[in-house]
Amino acid sequence: MQEISSVTEVVSPARTFRGSVRLPGDKSISHRYAMLAGLANGTSKLANFSTGADPHSSLRCMEQLGATVRDENGTIAVTGVAGSFAQPEHDLDCGNSGSTMRMLAGLVAPHTGTYTFVGDPSLTVRPMERIRKPLQQMGARIELTDGHAPMTVHGGPLQAIAFEAPIASAQVKTAVLFAGLQAQGVTKLKESVRTRDHSEHALRAFGVELERDAEGVSIRGDQTLQAVEATVPGDLSSAAFLLCAALLFPDSQLVLDDLGLNPSRSALLDVLVSMGLRLQVLNLEEKHGELIGTVQANGSAEVKGAEIRGSLSAQLIDELPVLAAIAPYTGTGITIRDAKELRIKESDRIALVVRNLRNMGAEVEELEDGMVIPGGQTLHGGVIDSGSDHRIAMAFSVAALRATGDTAIEGAEAAAISFPEFYPLLRQLGER
Ligand code: S3P
Repeated sequence: MQEISSVTEVVSPARTFRGSVRLPGDKSISHRYAMLAGLANGTSKLANFSTGADPHSSLRCMEQLGATVRDENGTIAVTGVAGSFAQPEHDLDCGNSGSTMRMLAGLVAPHTGTYTFVGDPSLTVRPMERIRKPLQQMGARIELTDGHAPMTVHGGPLQAIAFEAPIASAQVKTAVLFAGLQAQGVTKLKESVRTRDHSEHALRAFGVELERDAEGVSIRGDQTLQAVEATVPGDLSSAAFLLCAALLFPDSQLVLDDLGLNPSRSALLDVLVSMGLRLQVLNLEEKHGELIGTVQANGSAEVKGAEIRGSLSAQLIDELPVLAAIAPYTGTGITIRDAKELRIKESDRIALVVRNLRNMGAEVEELEDGMVIPGGQTLHGGVIDSGSDHRIAMAFSVAALRATGDTAIEGAEAAAISFPEFYPLLRQLGER
């Protein structure tokens, strides 16, 4: 892995936040398209593919597995291996990307071969047992190092299983579906909390038949994939930072074109509306099962607080850091519960959010599964430690827009994991 030197971005308070943007493609969907295109027959063309480092880790891994990847003026062309992966010559380097490691493990497990996955220091301590269990049940052998990467998948012919997901995780669901797609029999996956359904839509886009009912998803094995031409919708989790910034200024105006609005991802919009964001959705259409539209957002005079708990916490898991970072500016504050998973993301996001809020002068109570952040507070700016976590760097850059002084974001380069355009956009949209 190449060492990236730490960059500090100084974010000054803004007067308002205004502009119109078309965001790069969704990270979650880009991963899935990259992987399925790499396995498919033929050449897929993926327009508006994510510019983030994580989905590019997926593309690099697919190349190592025998796919051909070309960048044709911003459209990614992937020629798949037509169902047979090559034995990689080197370890599969997933960088910072848990999605790559977990979902790709499921995709390679039905192939006879040995696949070793490695990642950066953050990914190397993230739990992999959650995918090992179902994949071993299907017949693969998976070696972990203390429950983490380096991880070696010894793949071979797999048998379908019935699996009840013990945690709400779209990555685990996807690993099981990707393996089930190539196993003998019908794999059934039950999920008690409905997680993002991009894999179901992506599989259908590549010609796979699967069934979805109230309890979960069933997929028949031995199916083949056909290449697609698709445009990846704009990333709603990247938009979250800009929408939260818009919420902070009564006279803000933000227009986001071609934004992904998949209902399994869009709980954030409901929460922001309940907090006072004025929101309009225009030009709604569906492409390859994914809803896309233009979102127009305006702030309002009063920013209300929120209570986030239960299944809502799982649905908002990637957006919780930015909601927490702006919580002190809300009327009644924000309480987050049932979000223990935040502790095992790219960083311990509960501990880092709490520490960084305090660095900006906020009062906050840390809980094992969340935090309580009172509203009506003034933040004075400060020094933020991103912990090399993209969402922490971006969350506190948004909070910095309403602070009384400048904020130095240390490790700001982490934003490039999902949203390399973030700092230039923040400078462009924040009016001073
Ligand atoms: C993702 C699922 C979520 C999310 C991650 C992307 C996906 O992780 O936090 O950023 O693309 O499926 P979990 O599956 O661990 O909940």
